[in-house]
Amino acid sequence: NTVQIIGVPLDLGASRRGTDAGPMALRVAGLRAALRKMDREVAVDIDIAVPQKETQMRNKDSECSAHFKDEILAVCTDLANATYQALENDYFPLITGGDHSVAMGSVSATSHFYRQQQQEIGLLWFDAHGDMNTPQSSPSGNIHGMPLAHLLGNGDRDLVDILAQGSKVKPENVVLIGVRDIDKNEQLIIRDAGIHVFTMRDIDERGMAAVSREAIELVTKNTAGFHLSFDLDGCDPSVIPGTGTAVLGGVNYREAHLFMELCAESQGMLAMDVVELNPFLDQKNVSAERAVLLIQSALGQSIL
Ligand code: ARG
Ligand code: MN
Ligand code: MN
Ligand code: MN
Repeated sequence: NTVQIIGVPLDLGASRRGTDAGPMALRVAGLRAALRKMDREVAVDIDIAVPQKETQMRNKDSECSAHFKDEILAVCTDLANATYQALENDYFPLITGGDHSVAMGSVSATSHFYRQQQQEIGLLWFDAHGDMNTPQSSPSGNIHGMPLAHLLGNGDRDLVDILAQGSKVKPENVVLIGVRDIDKNEQLIIRDAGIHVFTMRDIDERGMAAVSREAIELVTKNTAGFHLSFDLDGCDPSVIPGTGTAVLGGVNYREAHLFMELCAESQGMLAMDVVELNPFLDQKNVSAERAVLLIQSALGQSIL
């Protein structure tokens, strides 16, 4: 079906500036043309309005345990409404971030849309990090380290209740893949959460194909399909240098394509986020160009 790109130039969830230029970097890298080349229809883009840090009266204060919560809540609510509308129009929502906080808006929309039809969604979270902190556990106060916790119903009430009250996904339908950097408090939260986790070690030992197939099976079992939330920092920094919280030892270029190809092959993907692209840390926009190629694989581009 028709793809709709929803740009969310948000960087208030991270301590480093620059992910607000992510949607633009993907456009410069030719995202729309790449989709058209695959014969995908592409609707008119939507851009979510996001305030800049410098225009905010209240600046990041070090007391706060969830920096820029009110602004991020407003952005995620707008994004949730836009994503819900896209699904209602039978478009495939492709959310371009922006820091990973945006997933609280996009995933809430996918969840709410399918729950209206009495169906649960799966959530496939590709990331170097767990993003399972709450304001209480977070060592940084940066909300991009917290979206998965909130989607599971833990943390700040307002952020949990975006678009509909309470948790948006059941832990048994959530898979975290590619992780290699978890905070101390976060370890306990993840162990208790009841979600499925595939670390880099699992990928090393079993290979990307086997791990991806099992992950996809878990998020498609008893669900309408799955939302893919793809944090580019899940990839190795040699593949994606343009990201703010890069961690050594990630998924390589071929493994990332294989993962995307298997997602496409499953025909179960309902929506997709591509987040944490920071072109200011990049080398000539290569990360955005590679992200476009990965998106093509995720949307069913095949070599033959
Ligand atoms: N765990 C760290 C924190 O809570 C880093 C989170 C990074 N998240 C991301 N989406 N890149 O601050
Ligand atoms: Mn703080
Ligand atoms: Mn993330
Ligand atoms: Mn991450």
